[in-house]
Amino acid sequence: MDSIHIWGGVALQGEVCIQGSKNATLPILAATLLTGECSYIRNCPRISDVYAMISLLQSLGCIVNWQENGILVDSSQVRRGEMRSEAVRGMRSSLCLLGAMLGRCSEVVMEHPGGCVIGSRPIDLHIEALKQMGVEFKEEAGLLKASADRLHGAVICLPRSSVGATENIILAGVMAEGDTELKGAAREPEIVALCRYLECCGACIEGIGTDCLRIKGGRTLYGTDFEVPADRIVAGTYLLTCIGTGGNLFLGKAPWREMEAVTNLAERMGGKLCISEKGIYVQGPDRPRAIECITTAPYPGFPTDLQSVALAVETVGDGNTVIEEKIFENRFRVVEELCRMGAKIRQLDASKVLVEGVPVLHGAAVEARELRGGAALVTAGLMARDKSSVSGCLYIYRGYENICRDFRELGARIISV
Ligand code: UD1
Repeated sequence: MDSIHIWGGVALQGEVCIQGSKNATLPILAATLLTGECSYIRNCPRISDVYAMISLLQSLGCIVNWQENGILVDSSQVRRGEMRSEAVRGMRSSLCLLGAMLGRCSEVVMEHPGGCVIGSRPIDLHIEALKQMGVEFKEEAGLLKASADRLHGAVICLPRSSVGATENIILAGVMAEGDTELKGAAREPEIVALCRYLECCGACIEGIGTDCLRIKGGRTLYGTDFEVPADRIVAGTYLLTCIGTGGNLFLGKAPWREMEAVTNLAERMGGKLCISEKGIYVQGPDRPRAIECITTAPYPGFPTDLQSVALAVETVGDGNTVIEEKIFENRFRVVEELCRMGAKIRQLDASKVLVEGVPVLHGAAVEARELRGGAALVTAGLMARDKSSVSGCLYIYRGYENICRDFRELGARIISV
């Protein structure tokens, strides 16, 4: 099931229910290690990154089972802190197991974490922060060794916003001796979800949702039952695809409170939105309006994870759009593929492209090279006038539970083969 075939040009119509958030589920699953008890995490998406996290937890000694739409994790038997597997190399969020495991064992050995190929993705912020909390690092034969005889609180100031580093500091901080004050914390909703889960376990974290967190360390944490919020990136993908294809959609459970930058953009592109507690209704325009400049930024700014989808939509905008990527380098790998479909895109510099809107894209055989870029190619295929095929779709399944089923339910002609 590595390819998706799409016969485009259909205006999307109907209702879809948004899956649980990938980026919230992964650190919460890592956090279940801290309790040494059972936690039941509801509304987990059935995606390959979650399966990879499950096998990592199992390799550490956890007993993990799906129960309905949730995952039951029993972390009482965790003894060793060794993570050497394909899953570590393939998934950057395995990095949050570092903070969690340091909270559990005094030594952790892991392979260098991977993830989508979008820029060099260094881990210096994680390492510097954990060093301040008493962790020593060594690199031996490609393995990262971290040890801490005594994990202690610290005053940490992150020089740049980092979701993963903020999560690692929180995970280590709740287990450390003493308090940790984190300035410059990332404020993404997934961090809020992680903090809420830890609060349910008995942790004390002040300043949740702000860039200054105060974490009281050393409290006993207990297993709990927690519901993961809906995925704002999946909701944003479907919302923007409706802007690109026209039609009417209802995005059930879409977490609209966390989506202001995206819903604002959709409205500026000509979408008519009606937001209620139940979700977002959107009516797409005949043709998307070209927005002069779309710039990604840490939350609450426009998310980098939706940059490629917005780019795909603006390929058929009624004018020119500059897309500026401020978070990751090398996140324009989709440009070449969109150009195969008739898009006119020029790279202005490493972080900027100019999109000159064309009336319609044509179908083509294209290749997904990373998760969100892959989703953007599906969006483009749905907007195009004839048949497209997207290969490399295993990337897409890392984050989207069943993108073909969802779009098919909305009237699209799309199959995975
Ligand atoms: C998380 C999300 C990812 C999203 C990204 C930014 C998960 C599983 N993934 O990734 O979907 O695109 O946030 O919203 O939640 N950086 C450093 N040194 C570090 C760490 C990061 O220089 O030690 C840089 C990165 O290269 C990048 C920027 O900081 O340029 C932001 O990265 P970060 O917020 O850490 O992203 P992730 O946590 O990897």
